[in-house]
Amino acid sequence: MAETFNRRRLDGKVAVITGAGGSIGRASSVRLAQEGAYVAVVDLKEDAATRTATDILAEGGRARAYACDVSDELQVNSLVERITVEMGPVELLHNNAGVLIPGSVTSISMSDWDLTYAVNVRGLLLMTRAVVPGMKAVGAGVVVNTASTAGLVGEPNCVAYDSSKGAVVNLTRQLAVDLAPYGIRVNCVCPGWIDTGFNDVIFEAAGMSATDIERLVENSVPMRRQGIAEDVAPAVAFLMSDDASYITGHPLVIDGGMVAQ
Ligand SMILES: NC(=O)c1ccc[n+]([C@@H]2O[C@H](COP(=O)([O-])OP(=O)(O)OC[C@H]3O[C@@H](n4cnc5c(N)ncnc54)[C@H](O)[C@@H]3O)[C@@H](O)[C@H]2O)c1
Repeated sequence: MAETFNRRRLDGKVAVITGAGGSIGRASSVRLAQEGAYVAVVDLKEDAATRTATDILAEGGRARAYACDVSDELQVNSLVERITVEMGPVELLHNNAGVLIPGSVTSISMSDWDLTYAVNVRGLLLMTRAVVPGMKAVGAGVVVNTASTAGLVGEPNCVAYDSSKGAVVNLTRQLAVDLAPYGIRVNCVCPGWIDTGFNDVIFEAAGMSATDIERLVENSVPMRRQGIAEDVAPAVAFLMSDDASYITGHPLVIDGGMVAQ
């Protein structure tokens, strides 16, 4: 029987990934490059973006690194202009940059609230609206947002983060509806506990030891382990690919069964 599975589902497509110097963004960048995409590795931290791009090039993939604060409209617009000139029109966008600042309704500072929304929600909107005109012009494009299980349920001491990720889930649905007539699909991934160091601030704020964290995972995750960034990347690649050609507006949960309970 002929081989029908295409391992290079994204061949030649220009993909922009934000927060790509971090763990999940790095894994997604590497995976999309392995599937043939030409990857614009974007991060606030230039050195981290450069490391990811260098790793992709070392494996024989194609990538360029860019520094950008996704919450800054001027930086975002000039970033997308540069990428379009240097790499070609953007066909795939993974909005993945995010920040997590602990705090409750009474303890969160308004500057931490504003920063959370500036990066997690405003940044996503700015990046998407910068690439959409190009996608509309060719009648195709895919956006994948990194939401979180935190956008589906409430957790202690995460008022800004959880509500911002809830906004990402419904912004995904709204954008999917608005952009479907132009051939643009928009989905999000909702990772659960992913072992990247990102959650350390909330574990520290709760005074949790390594043993406490292990116990939390055993009690809350049916698969009894934290995920790794490489558990998320294949789901992003799938949603980016034509294998997901009739899927839009969907929050894909990747959490070892945590929110299934
Ligand atoms: N780790 C988890 O358990 C988990 C679970 C669910 C969702 N997420 C989400 O996954 C995404 C990536 O998280 P991660 O675990 O890889 O953490 P990470 O800290 O390794 O990566 C986040 C990256 O975003 C970048 N970033 C922050 N602010 C930015 C800005 N203004 N402009 C551009 N880049 C910026 C950081 O420099 C960093 O490289 C985040 O959106 C996070 O909310 C993580």
